[in-house]
Amino acid sequence: MDSIISIKDLSKVYDNGFQALKGINLEIERGEILALLGPNGAGKTTLISVITGIVSASSGSVTVDGHDNVKNYRQARQLIGLVPQELTLSAFETVWNTVRFTRGLYGASTDNAYLEQLLKDLSLWDKKDNQLRMLSGGMKRRVLIAKALSHAPRILFLDEPTAGVDVELRKDMWHMIDKLRESGVTIILTTHYIEEAEDIADRIAVINDGEILLIEDKTELMQKLGKKQLIIELREPANTVPSNLVDLDVSLSDDGTILTYTYDASADATGITKLLNLLSESGLQLKDLQTTQSSLEDIFVDLVHKDSELKPSTET
Ligand SMILES: Nc1ncnc2c1ncn2[C@@H]1O[C@H](COP(=O)(O)OP(=O)(O)OP(=O)(O)O)[C@@H](O)[C@H]1O
Ligand SMILES: [Mg+2]
Repeated sequence: MDSIISIKDLSKVYDNGFQALKGINLEIERGEILALLGPNGAGKTTLISVITGIVSASSGSVTVDGHDNVKNYRQARQLIGLVPQELTLSAFETVWNTVRFTRGLYGASTDNAYLEQLLKDLSLWDKKDNQLRMLSGGMKRRVLIAKALSHAPRILFLDEPTAGVDVELRKDMWHMIDKLRESGVTIILTTHYIEEAEDIADRIAVINDGEILLIEDKTELMQKLGKKQLIIELREPANTVPSNLVDLDVSLSDDGTILTYTYDASADATGITKLLNLLSESGLQLKDLQTTQSSLEDIFVDLVHKDSELKPSTET
């Protein structure tokens, strides 16, 4: 694997003693889109902040394309763009000056044509002379994206880029992310819209309570942990699950009209033929059949719940 970011044994204890990251090890592949999923407070923003150098690590190391992000922070930072979760903009600056200034901060030479194209891509060009306080929330988010891209970074972090954003902008953003990926930019994003991660990410990392629970290729993850269900609608309600089916993973709805069979989609034998044979032996009449497949969201909720159940509660 050709990693562009290497994270080794990274921990973060905040000043108040709270440990937000607990020994994170992570290799981010050059050119990939990695989605970081985790519940509120899992440590996603902390992780991004430590990688991008906004927050210092308590122990461990991060290298960005070979540059240690503390010892060689300038080189490391030049490669990185960050769209932060919180809106952080100065109200009285204009859109144009904001992106120009940010580009300058990164030591990139003036390139007005690049910035013009960037603002056009983000539908901000007609607002370029507006002060930021005159923009709507969604437009401010676009400005944050323009700032993050102002120095044409090779790695882009997007922390909840689509929170509070309308459908239109969300589509624009995913389109833009696609274009960036095509040009070879590595993208790390967090989102609570899991179906977006399902659409766009190459790999998924699930983080909970400061630890990475899992990191996996999206397709493999969906195959491995994805469960399929066969929903069987009965002509007449049944009182109980037929006795010849009790050894299978079959459940009956409260009103007795729907049998649900859960099976492992990746297994060689799904057991469906056997189930249907047994059903016909039991004399039940079928009305309709349907299959459903668990989404990334189901997988995610499952993982995080299991992790929390296994841990002793830290609440006092
Ligand atoms: N400056 C700080 N001082 C102390 N604790 C902090 C600080 N910043 C964050 N935390 C704590 O660290 C934990 C992780 O926070 P973080 O912002 O990284 O979570 P997150 O995964 O980004 O959550 P969200 O999905 O809500 O954005 C939380 O319990 C949070 O309260
Ligand atoms: Mg966050």
